[in-house]
Amino acid sequence: MNLPYAEPYKTKMVEYIKPSTIEERKQWIKEADYNLFNLTSEKVFIDLLTDSGTGAMSDKQWAEMMVGDESYAGSQSFLKLKDTVKRITGFNYFLPTHQGRAAENVLFSVLVKEGDIIPGNSHFDTTKGHIEFRKASTLDCTIDEAFNTTVYHPFKGNVNIEKLEIAFKNNTNNNIPFVIVTVTCNSAGGQPVSMNNIKEVSKICKKYHIPLIIDAARFAENAYFIKIREEGYKESTIKEIVKEFFSYADGMTMSAKKDGLVNMGGFIALNDEDVYKKATVYNIMFEGFITYGGLNGRDMGALAVGLDEATEFDYLETRIKQVAYLGAQLVEFGVPVQQPFGGHAIFLDANKFVPTIPRDEFRAQALAIELYIVGGIRGVEIGTILADRDPFTHKNRYPELELVRLAIPRRTYSLNHMKYIASVIKEIYATRSEAKRGYRIIEEAPIMRHFTVKLEKITV
Ligand code: F0G
Repeated sequence: MNLPYAEPYKTKMVEYIKPSTIEERKQWIKEADYNLFNLTSEKVFIDLLTDSGTGAMSDKQWAEMMVGDESYAGSQSFLKLKDTVKRITGFNYFLPTHQGRAAENVLFSVLVKEGDIIPGNSHFDTTKGHIEFRKASTLDCTIDEAFNTTVYHPFKGNVNIEKLEIAFKNNTNNNIPFVIVTVTCNSAGGQPVSMNNIKEVSKICKKYHIPLIIDAARFAENAYFIKIREEGYKESTIKEIVKEFFSYADGMTMSAKKDGLVNMGGFIALNDEDVYKKATVYNIMFEGFITYGGLNGRDMGALAVGLDEATEFDYLETRIKQVAYLGAQLVEFGVPVQQPFGGHAIFLDANKFVPTIPRDEFRAQALAIELYIVGGIRGVEIGTILADRDPFTHKNRYPELELVRLAIPRRTYSLNHMKYIASVIKEIYATRSEAKRGYRIIEEAPIMRHFTVKLEKITV
């Protein structure tokens, strides 16, 4: 029998969201200077800005909130989380942090120095930020297929092993402190990394004595793709796949706001005692004592339960099939989206959707604004505004892809919401040839401009 999937949970509490009219939204987005980050949440009907910290916790996680141990040192909630992290990841040493970028800050304080190069698949913005802040640089070794939205490859997050080996061979000054592999690869569109690839990365890292770190924000979603798409893993449980995957690495940084199924949290897990000891000093300086690291006891308890729930197949199947449902609807309507669909988000290809809007008028941003005006849906531009200006020429940098990311929060929206989103996009797609003009910047910050940029609509 081939039955459709159904959520392995039901609703116990609901949060109302507010419908609004097109006229209201036109006014609100104008008042927000056409920057979706400036909208207050009650002005948004369906919020797809991020899947980070926006998911719903289970009753068992909420129960943990009530029994959290708030002791400064040696809390029971810490021990519960530490044991869970050991059981799920296999790493021996563990440090909690308040979120993912804090884990990067602590670990990179130990490992990264000026002039270093950190290769990997496409690094996430905060990872890159923490590396560049230390006057070091990143080297993107993602396979070429990742940059073509229409080409099919089951593991577009994979590292190109030859590119990596060239980097190692050129490393005559010993300035590669580690390799970082992000799973799933957010910057490449939520694309997974295969077991075979991480195995090969690990092998070559060992050959050159370079540690391998995983940016594990969406490690469970990555394991789902391995089970479904990679030969030899059909019969394995998600937890077995996760354990094997991490066994090829020396450590991990984690934003628990994604596959930890919590609203706030992060951690570092490692095998090297020496690195761990050094990291504890920075953890105490930046985050808090080593048994809470910026988190409440109750948050650590909820995260322990969340890690177990996120590594269950039934949950992951629902999660990823919901995202894929939205993607499939859009493909059916002829809308250009990145394929295969990512684990946490669908990406609209604005270069193909609205080629009529000039690139210097921010076509992906224009499309994101239209989505908000027509349907009250908030996505995020991943295009020229996000790419910032060249630090030397101060000219806009035009990335290869102009995307609008629709990130789907975990266990939050229904299939009807997905249908609604798809219908809104279908409407916009039908009138796309009328879109001629975009926006101009009237105010921007020198870096990370997308958060605070102010825009004006070009009318003539
Ligand atoms: N690594 C990856 C792959 C991420 O996607 C993020 C956050 C981080 C690290 C940083 O973690 O937010 O807990 O400090 N991504 C969010 C997003 C913000 O919307 O994709 P954090």
